[in-house]
Amino acid sequence: MSAKIIDGKAISGQIKGEIAEETKKLKGKGIVPGLGFILVGDDPASRTYVRMKGKACEAVGFHSVTQKLPPDTTQAELMKWVTQFNLDPDISGFLVQLPLPDHLDETEVIEAVDPNKDVDCFNPYNVGRLPSGREAFAPCTPAGVIELLMRSGYDPAGRHVVIVGRSSIVGRPLATLLSRKAPGGNATVTLCHSRSGDLTYFLKQADIVVAAIGSPEMIHGDMIKPGCVVIDVGVNRVEVPKEVNEKGYRLVGDVHFDSAREVAEAITPVPGGVGPMTIAMLLKNTLRAAQRKA
Ligand code: GUN
Repeated sequence: MSAKIIDGKAISGQIKGEIAEETKKLKGKGIVPGLGFILVGDDPASRTYVRMKGKACEAVGFHSVTQKLPPDTTQAELMKWVTQFNLDPDISGFLVQLPLPDHLDETEVIEAVDPNKDVDCFNPYNVGRLPSGREAFAPCTPAGVIELLMRSGYDPAGRHVVIVGRSSIVGRPLATLLSRKAPGGNATVTLCHSRSGDLTYFLKQADIVVAAIGSPEMIHGDMIKPGCVVIDVGVNRVEVPKEVNEKGYRLVGDVHFDSAREVAEAITPVPGGVGPMTIAMLLKNTLRAAQRKA
């Protein structure tokens, strides 16, 4: 058996089409959704992500602004830009691209983002509202995982979802969303992490596996249940000789794709699975911010 490939690029394209339609309507009322990015330092992956997000804005008709700051930016300087973006009426929502250089205090920055503009849904005020279902925004990657499942016919309701990875950006908020009594929720959730012990024991019980550990190709086909659905959130750069790939690296997920696809019913690729969905959800949140303000 070879699993069905869940095409995140195609599904995100569909969502972007819907967003572009809504954006047209808003523009008819004189409102242009605007998304801001604050990028500190020159981490190549972060620069790529911000560039991709900016291009996505253009594609759906949003206005976007990127504030690039040098690696030695002080905390005070960064906080000044956060305040400026909070106050800018043309910016519906914005994010500070993470990770920040080591000398900067990420928590202080995240807490300073106006909750009404917090399209990442990282501010503790918005995170704290998640269990109630009364949040302003859904966190982008977890929401993207759920949207991907729903739109490919795998409603998590009544299923056992095993999430591997307890990060505050993916694993934990995803566990919250999946266990809610709401559309896209109603799942039984197990949250595994580095201290879970026998990972295979848990994975073998999963109807849906979500891998978000940041460990290249760690989950192999022989660790999962035949017929399960695999969502791979991992994006890992693995070095390869320049003769193989001119960039000197290739992208792999947290799942060993070739072995898992022989066991699973459906699986997301890396790249082209969850990644484009995260960006689509960011656009959706920005649209929502603009609509809320209108
Ligand atoms: N770094 C990696 N993913 C993200 C994200 O979703 N938002 C921000 N702000 N930084 C990131």
